[in-house]
Parts: sequence; C-alpha cells; structure tokens
Amino acid sequence: MSEAPPATAPYERLGGDATVRTLVDRFYDLMDLEPEYADLRRVHGSDLTAARDKLYWFLSGWLGGPDLYIERFGHPRLRARHLPFAIGIRERDQWLACMNQAMVECGVAEDLRARLLQAFFQTADWMRNQAG
Ligand code: HEM
Repeated sequence: MSEAPPATAPYERLGGDATVRTLVDRFYDLMDLEPEYADLRRVHGSDLTAARDKLYWFLSGWLGGPDLYIERFGHPRLRARHLPFAIGIRERDQWLACMNQAMVECGVAEDLRARLLQAFFQTADWMRNQAG
C-alpha cells in the first residue's frame, strides 16, 4: 500500500535558511556575551566571522537542507578539524548550553529543540579530545 509520507526535515520545521542563519548568529553572539560560555569562547580565535559562516553552512546540510558546507569544502571531517582545539567535558557542555539557549531564544519548538539537543550531544561528545 502507500508508503508513509517522508518526515519533515528539521530544516523545514525550523523555518529554512533564514532561521538557520539567525540561530548560528545568536549562538556566536551568546558565546561572545555570556560569562558562562567563557571557556568555550577562549578556545576560539578573536574573530568569529569564519566560524559563523562555516557553522551556518554545515548546519544547513546537517539539518536536512542544502549541503552548503560540502559544496564548498567536501566532507566535513569534523573530528579531525577540531583536533587542534582542546575539547573536554566543560567545552562540550558549554557548546551544548550555548546552542540550547540560542534555540530557546530563536523560538524553536520544544519537541524539535529536545530532539536536536540530543543529536547535538552525540556530535559534540564525539568531538571530545581531552579526558576532562
Ligand atoms: C564540543 C565543543 C566544540 C568546540 C569547543 C568547538 C570549537 C570550534 C572551533 C574553535 C572552531 C574553529 C572556528 C574558526 O574557524 O575560527 C570550530 C569550527 C567548527 N565547528 Fe566546532 N566546536 C565544538 C562543537 C561543534 C559541534 C557540535 C559542531 C556541529 C554540530 C561543530 C561544527 C563546527 C564546524 C562546521 C566548524 C568549521 C570547520 C572548518 O571548516 O574549519 N562544532 N569549532
């Protein structure tokens, strides 16, 4: 019989390109502003412009929208690309808290936010390269 309709990609549910860009900008604004993300901010360089663009391009594809990052750079190799930065539990948890706050402030629906946070946890935890 008929197949189930395809699940709506998080990208669509979020509101597409404009929301992904807004979310990433809020994420880095918060990282810059909020003292509780200071350790995370310290891992980054002084200029966050490139990081903003790259996370936006990456998340577009990761959320089920256009693969803007892969079009530009090929396979993300995210773990390898994070090896120059010391990432432990503290940095992982600050990244997740910062992204969670950005999602709340951008009005991401509660069920979608919880689902994305879980997926972000898997990715962020896999990026860890320090025991502590
Ligand atoms: C776990 C804690 C994390 C820390 C401390 C961290 C830190 C960083 C830093 C310092 C950069 C370099 C930024 C620059 O070019 O100026 C970076 C790049 C990047 N991060 Fe993370 N990150 C974390 C987790 C994540 C997660 C969970 C994702 C995806 C969901 C992600 C996606 C990216 C991407 C796409 C880039 C750009 C890579 C490139 O092409 O150079 N990061 N990250």
